[in-house]
Amino acid sequence: MSLRTRLILLSSVWVLLLVIVFNVTIYFYILRNSTTAETKLLWNKAQIILRNPYSRQPDNWGDPDLLAEYNEPDMLVRIIDTEGVIRASVSTSDRLAAYPVSYKSGYGSAMVNEFGVRMLFVQVPIRAHGYQLGTLELGKSLNVMSEWLKLLGTGLYMTSGAVLVVALVSGYFYTRVLIRPIGELLDTMNEIRKKRYFVTLSPRYASAKDELGRLGQTFNDMIETLKEQDARQKQFVADASHELRTPLTVIESYASLLSRWGGERPEVREEAIQAIQSESVRLKGLIHSLLRQAEFERGEELPKQPVSLIPLLQETAGRLAMAFRREIRLDVSEGAEPVCLGSEEQLKQLLIILLDNAVSYSDGPVLIGCREQGREIVLTVADQGIGIPEEDIPHLFERFYRVDKTRQRRSGGSGLGLSIAKQIVDRHNGTISIQSGSGAGTQVEITLPRAIF
Ligand SMILES: Nc1ncnc2c1ncn2[C@@H]1O[C@H](COP(=O)(O)OP(=O)(O)OP(=O)(O)O)[C@@H](O)[C@H]1O
Ligand SMILES: [Mg+2]
Repeated sequence: MSLRTRLILLSSVWVLLLVIVFNVTIYFYILRNSTTAETKLLWNKAQIILRNPYSRQPDNWGDPDLLAEYNEPDMLVRIIDTEGVIRASVSTSDRLAAYPVSYKSGYGSAMVNEFGVRMLFVQVPIRAHGYQLGTLELGKSLNVMSEWLKLLGTGLYMTSGAVLVVALVSGYFYTRVLIRPIGELLDTMNEIRKKRYFVTLSPRYASAKDELGRLGQTFNDMIETLKEQDARQKQFVADASHELRTPLTVIESYASLLSRWGGERPEVREEAIQAIQSESVRLKGLIHSLLRQAEFERGEELPKQPVSLIPLLQETAGRLAMAFRREIRLDVSEGAEPVCLGSEEQLKQLLIILLDNAVSYSDGPVLIGCREQGREIVLTVADQGIGIPEEDIPHLFERFYRVDKTRQRRSGGSGLGLSIAKQIVDRHNGTISIQSGSGAGTQVEITLPRAIF
C-alpha cells in the first residue's frame, strides 16, 4: 500500500472514529434526558393515583371505573396484587397491555424497545399499615420520542457518512500536496541514476520551512557538494594527465634518440641519459604530489593529535639544511612551547613544501619564525629570493599554478606544492598568506589554532 493511501485511510479512520464517538455520546445523552423526563411524569402520575385512598383499598380494585379517569392515549395503568394477578387495568394500547405481568415488591422502572417503539414502565408499591398490598404499574408508549430518536439516529448516521466522504476527499487532496515533494525527490533521484548526471530539485520543493522543505534543501546541498566533488575530480584527472604527459614525452623522445644514435654518438647518449634521469626524478616528485593531492580529495578524517611544533621545526629544518646544503635559521621566542592539534606528518609535509620553495627560489639563508599570539600560533618562512609578482599571488594556491615557466625548469616544480600546503592548513583550521613582490623576497605566514588543554 502506498504511503499516500495509508495516510488517507489513517486520517479518515481517525476522523470517522471521532465522529462516531461524538455521535454516540450525543445520542445517548439525548435518550437519557428524554427518558428521565418521561419517567418523572409517570412517577408523578402514580403519586396522584395513590393519593386517592379509594384506589389503595383492595376491596375497591374490582370497581371497573376505578382507573377510568386516568386513562390516556398510549398509556397503561394497572394494579397487580401480591399473587401477580391483575386486579384493575385500563389501557388504550394492546402492546402495553401485553407487557408481562409480575408483582414487584418496592419501586421499579424499565424501558422496553419493541420493533423500534420504546415503552416505559414504572412500578410503585401500594402500601397500607406498613404492608405492601400490591403494585401500581404505569406504562407509556414513547411514540413521539421514538420517532424523534429514529430521526436523530438517521441524521447522525448521515453526518458520519458525510464526514467520511469529506475526510477521504480532503485526504486525497492534502496528501497530494504533502507527498508531491517526496515524489519529486524520487523522480529526481531516478533521473540522476538513469542519466548519470547531477540534477537538483526545483527550488519550489526546497524553499519551504517545514521538514519536507528542509529535506529538499538538504538534498540539493548534497547534490551541489557531489557536483563540486565530481567536477574537482574530473579537473584533477585532466590536470594530472596533462602534467604527466610532458615528462613522459621528454623521456620517450630521449629514449628513441638514445636507441637511434646512442651507440655511435657518446655526447648524445650522455645528454639523453641525463635528461631521462632528471625527468624521471621530476616524474617521481609529481606522482608523489599527485597521490598526496588525491588523498586530500578523498577527504579522509584528519587525526587530531597534539603536535609540538618546535621539535618538528628543528628536525625538519635540520634535515633540509643538510640535504640542500643551505642555511636555514630558526627564530623561536624564548620559552615558547607551541602545541597544535592535528597530524604531525601533514605539518611536516607543509614545512617541507615551504622550505623547498624558499630554497628553490632564493640563494641566501632561509628564516623560520614561530611565536604564540593569543589563541594562535604564527609560523613564518621567509627568504630573500626572487619573490613573486603581485598579480600572481592570488593564484598561488591553485593546482598546477606556476609563476612562469622558466622558473619551473630551474626548480623542476609541478605547481602543486602550495595547493597542498593550503589544504593542509585548511584541514588544521588555520590560515595561510603570502607577502612578496618581484625581487623582494617572500614571506609565507601561517596561523594555526593553539591546542587548549
Ligand atoms: N619562496 C618563493 N619565492 C619565489 N617564488 C615562489 C616561492 N614559493 C612559490 N613561488 C612561486 O609560486 C609557484 C607555485 O609554488 P608551488 O610550490 O605551488 O609549485 P612549484 O614549486 O612550482 O612546484 P612543486 O609542486 O614542486 O612545489 C612556484 O612555481 C613559484 O614560481
Ligand atoms: Mg614548490
